Amino acid sequence: MELRIPFLAWCFVTLQVAWAEERCSSHFGKTWQGDAEVNEVSFLQMGLQSVVNKRDKEEVLRFMHIPKTGGTSIDSANLHLPPDKRAYDSYMLQTYQRIADSRHLEGQDLGAIFDESHSDMFSYIIFMGLNAGSYRIIPPGVIDGCEDIHTPPSRSAEVALYYQERTTFCAVREPLARYWSAFKMIFYECDPKSVEKRTLSLMTELSTRQYMYNCFFVPQVQSVWGVSNKSAATHQYCHHILHEENLDQEFAELMAEYGQGVELPAAELMSSWTDHCNMSVADLTPPTKAAVYEYFKADYEAFGYAKPDF
Ligand SMILES: *[C@@H]1O[C@H](CO)[C@@H](O)[C@H](O)[C@H]1NC(C)=O
Ligand SMILES: *[C@@H]1O[C@H](CO)[C@@H](O)[C@H](O)[C@H]1NC(C)=O
Repeated sequence: MELRIPFLAWCFVTLQVAWAEERCSSHFGKTWQGDAEVNEVSFLQMGLQSVVNKRDKEEVLRFMHIPKTGGTSIDSANLHLPPDKRAYDSYMLQTYQRIADSRHLEGQDLGAIFDESHSDMFSYIIFMGLNAGSYRIIPPGVIDGCEDIHTPPSRSAEVALYYQERTTFCAVREPLARYWSAFKMIFYECDPKSVEKRTLSLMTELSTRQYMYNCFFVPQVQSVWGVSNKSAATHQYCHHILHEENLDQEFAELMAEYGQGVELPAAELMSSWTDHCNMSVADLTPPTKAAVYEYFKADYEAFGYAKPDF
């Protein structure tokens, strides 16, 4: 299990190197330059036309994948649809379309390729390494750049525009459960005391580097409203907020509203990735829960989740 960290680190490094080689930048030209922290003014000045991708025009809805909220299943459901029947657009769909284009997989079932690549962490890391040139890190060339699917709009004008151009939906999740799900994917500690120690040091690291670890620990308000506290919001980037706790039903209702016949897969993708650790949220120590609650307080307030007991 100790292999997990080097492998995950290797995978992010591979992506960053791919980016440094600018294999992707030629696709997108100058739009990306200077793309860092955005404010409302720079966002408006950029103009919509600069980043509109023709292929996206056909889809009405866009999906924003907030890490560890069930997004892999949402993308999988969509990728399983025939290319002309996709229910929504997403950065993940675009990534797999680039992979299919670059590997000449036209006509193959993107959903099957997607599911297979996500079947376990090892497969995914190999898959990412082989297709590194098709992944995009935003902003490019900075410390703690994240995959585009995980980059919050607060961090990138391009990402902000992407979600503003369409009606966007996303899922949110009880912050402690979300934290624990991300933690298990990245760290190998799996007893209450070690998890507590790692959590406290992680919270210190995140206080100055909030995008570390591929943006897995960024508060959800950053994605939905692009700010660190909902009370400061000027834009809403995710217009339909679903809840991971009731995802099947809320997803079905939203798709029905938009006339899309698409269903979530029965089995939860990626659940086996964290099989190595049996601990549940209930096993976390009071100091762990308190630290996580403090760090994600803005999410508790914004989405109405009850404060955990600790
Ligand atoms: C998970 O829990 C079960 C039942 O308590 C136990 O038998 C098993 O060994 C645990 N697995 C790990 C990896 O800790
Ligand atoms: C968010 O802003 C509101 C209003 O200013 C404030 O009451 C609240 O404490 C803030 N929350 C956090 C987590 O900073």
